[in-house]
Amino acid sequence: MKKTFTFLFLLSAFSYFVSCEHDPATSTDTLLELTLDQRSPTGSYTGYIMPESDDYANLPNQDPKNPVTAAKVELGRMLFFETGIGLEPKYAVSKTAYSCSSCHIPERGFTAGRFQGIADGALGFGNFGDGRYLNRHYTGDEVDAQGARPLPTINTTYVTNALWAGTFGSFGVNEGTQSVWNQDTLIAINYDGLMGLEANNNRALIVHRQVINKAVTDSLGYTAMFDVAFPEIPENERYTRKIAAFAIAAYFRTILTNEAPFQHWLKGQRSAMTEPQKRGAILFFGKAGCSNCHNSPSLNSQPHAFFALGVKNLYQSGHQVFRTGPNDARNFGRGGFTHRPEDMHKFKVPQLYNLKEADFYFHGASKRSLREVVEYFNDGIPENPDVPQSQISSLFHPLGLTNAEMDDLTDFLENALYDPNLKRYAPSQVMSGNCFPNNDMPSRLDMGCN
Ligand code: HEC
Ligand code: HEC
Repeated sequence: MKKTFTFLFLLSAFSYFVSCEHDPATSTDTLLELTLDQRSPTGSYTGYIMPESDDYANLPNQDPKNPVTAAKVELGRMLFFETGIGLEPKYAVSKTAYSCSSCHIPERGFTAGRFQGIADGALGFGNFGDGRYLNRHYTGDEVDAQGARPLPTINTTYVTNALWAGTFGSFGVNEGTQSVWNQDTLIAINYDGLMGLEANNNRALIVHRQVINKAVTDSLGYTAMFDVAFPEIPENERYTRKIAAFAIAAYFRTILTNEAPFQHWLKGQRSAMTEPQKRGAILFFGKAGCSNCHNSPSLNSQPHAFFALGVKNLYQSGHQVFRTGPNDARNFGRGGFTHRPEDMHKFKVPQLYNLKEADFYFHGASKRSLREVVEYFNDGIPENPDVPQSQISSLFHPLGLTNAEMDDLTDFLENALYDPNLKRYAPSQVMSGNCFPNNDMPSRLDMGCN
């Protein structure tokens, strides 16, 4: 009996390793592997593998001033969802009603679930963000909203310079842009010698009307967590936006889509992707030319690159939007930050995982599905007449893909680049005990908090 059991156990363990780690390869697998070996910046398909989220030593682009630790990640995870720090709303009715994650919702790939995120000044959650609407105490000009669709805060360990324009971060592509850092009090943070996430998050806490100080950390119960995570920071500097931003940056670097089928395939599980998805991947890294720009483990660009694809801006996309219009500097992408003529209308190459649930695509939210995005690239015709042809990337041109090829490419994007369990990166509760990501009454009803 015992022997049979041991035998069965060994057999199943053996077949586990055989089936999970090294499935027999089909000819499509072999072709995909060869294609990836050719395209990979490291010369091998393994260069696209993301680290495990707790493998802190191997998370790239860390700030030497802020190495990732478990205590920082735990604190950052709560602060990002904490509605209790929403203490500087335009009107007191919205105190503690919103959080960072009002616009970065895990179930929406850490985007807002709508074309424009609104934190302070809006009500309701609907089905993960789609039911959010203007609070009648506010005019549209008074809400916290930006002139672009939120970027997902996933796979940001591959982000050296934050935002569509690459605005934040003292190094990487921002070396040599010092002359514009004093144009705006927010951008002046770049003088502090910080990586993109540390700089961005500090400014985000201000822009999104949140407060961190000793009185706040005491009252919400975070003081001890700051003490454990940042013992080396003098106490008079510890309970601040700067240090909260460090904690959130550490947390961000662990949010990796490392359970997506393509990641499993790269790690040897050949059955993780379907044949159409593998064909889609071969197109992505081959004939369709996508990896000419999207070519890193997150499929953003390393080092960051900026291109004009001639897509519409948020104010042109037909949605009712707030606090943006023809004069918004964000419409000019990288050029709106650097003021260099050659950078005008060029946007950062974004990561491509977990977009299926984002619902709105491109910086101006002009597309509603990944299939529409693929068709846009295949047609190669700019949709925004305001973008001069001279700025449009020469890599953006008609591709001549068949319908079946576009189906495969879409399947790869939608499903092979989709980690089904981003919820694992959200906390089960925050220290205040408040509802999150939103805490206004209509949201509480939508989310079942009451
Ligand atoms: C009102 C909605 C909203 C809220 C609230 C919000 N964000 Fe964002 N976030 C955005 C938008 C929009 C962008 C893209 C803006 C741009 O690039 O111009 C963005 C971009 C980012 C990025 C850049 C990612 C990249 O790939 O470059 C990071 C990091 C980020 N947010 C972190 C945060 C943090 C931390 C907080 C809370 C302190 C926060 N966000 C709160 C809307 C929001
Ligand atoms: C010339 C460089 C370049 C090439 C080639 C390219 N992309 Fe992109 N891609 C970008 C840039 C830049 C953006 C952001 C554009 C914007 O919103 O203004 C983008 C955006 C996207 C988005 C939307 C992401 C989001 O967050 O909304 C998807 C999806 C995408 N690309 C997929 C592809 C696919 C599939 C291909 C191949 C058919 C491809 N890209 C080829 C540069 C490129």
